[in-house]
Amino acid sequence: MSQFRIIAKNFSSSSAVQNAIKNVTIIGGGLMGSGIAQVSAQAGQNVILVDVSSDVLEKAQKSITANLGRVAKKIYKDNPAEGEKFVKDSLAKIKTSTDPVAASKSADLVVEAIVENLGIKHELFKKLDAAAPPHAILASNTSSLSINKIFSVVSRKDKIGGLHFFNPVPVMRLLEVVRGAETSEGTYQTMMAWGKSVGKTCITCKDTPGFVVNRLLVPYIAEAVRLLERGDASARDIDIAMKLGAGYPMGPLELADYVGLDTNKFILDGWHQDYPDQPLFNPIPLLNKLVSEGKLGVKSGEGFYKYEKK
Ligand code: 3HC
Repeated sequence: MSQFRIIAKNFSSSSAVQNAIKNVTIIGGGLMGSGIAQVSAQAGQNVILVDVSSDVLEKAQKSITANLGRVAKKIYKDNPAEGEKFVKDSLAKIKTSTDPVAASKSADLVVEAIVENLGIKHELFKKLDAAAPPHAILASNTSSLSINKIFSVVSRKDKIGGLHFFNPVPVMRLLEVVRGAETSEGTYQTMMAWGKSVGKTCITCKDTPGFVVNRLLVPYIAEAVRLLERGDASARDIDIAMKLGAGYPMGPLELADYVGLDTNKFILDGWHQDYPDQPLFNPIPLLNKLVSEGKLGVKSGEGFYKYEKK
């Protein structure tokens, strides 16, 4: 409940923020990309949401419509007609495309939220660097890769950065803003102002593995999986413990299922490869087993828990 009050407050104050970004292109129509598209459109920006798959775009539009409805219900609970207008106006701000190059031609900001694969990101950013206007900022929503490595292939090294959102994007109030080694002060300030304009509280972190949140959250989840693997406590009890004993909204294993066990594994494996001497990043047999069985959490219907398929 309280989260929604804050969203409403941030939303209504966003117009006061000086924000140079009017046209935002989001690459990747998954959970994160569609959430970023939603909050940008809610803030009155022109959005193009891009994905190679038109099926993914269709699904994204459906989930954005449903989530805008949830927001409208809270903000305009006494005025349903205004709520409907809010949903309609926000949706009208979002166009979709399957062509990242064409979609970036008039962007002020491009936010990439595609698969966490450095090679694929390099190919994309080479094209976007050539296609986007010279003033445009290129940003990545990466959760675990290095911003400097992602943008090593672009020539506009002063106009790049990390804009790391959290799932579910319309609800989670944080945005991590990450500067690359050559990011200009102007680019950094523009990213901070843009984050505020889409209703987020921005924090800044150096280009380090997992930035702040995932550097703390991923080892915490990993320790919970190890606790379960040793048989020290049941999944249910581990989750209840952290919710009632530490005030977390979800327990670590519920959260692992929510984020996706494949995502957790991918992040841990990447860090283990880069930092083999850090025991917090060691592979976890139980996590690897679940992923190899296709038990990826909420999205696959089973992880540490079972879920009804939607
Ligand atoms: N869009 C709009 N509103 C939404 C929403 C969405 N996608 N999802 C939930 N909501 C709203 C609901 O309408 C509800 O509103 P109300 O309280 O005013 O009635 C409110 O959020 C709470 O939702 P629910 O009642 O459905 O469920 P919960 O109370 O269990 O809350 C939760 C769900 C917000 C997900 C909460 O459990 C939570 O905060 N969990 C922790 C999430 C977290 O840690 N995220 C970060 C993951 S790490 C990450 O993303 C980084 C990446 O790099 C891996």
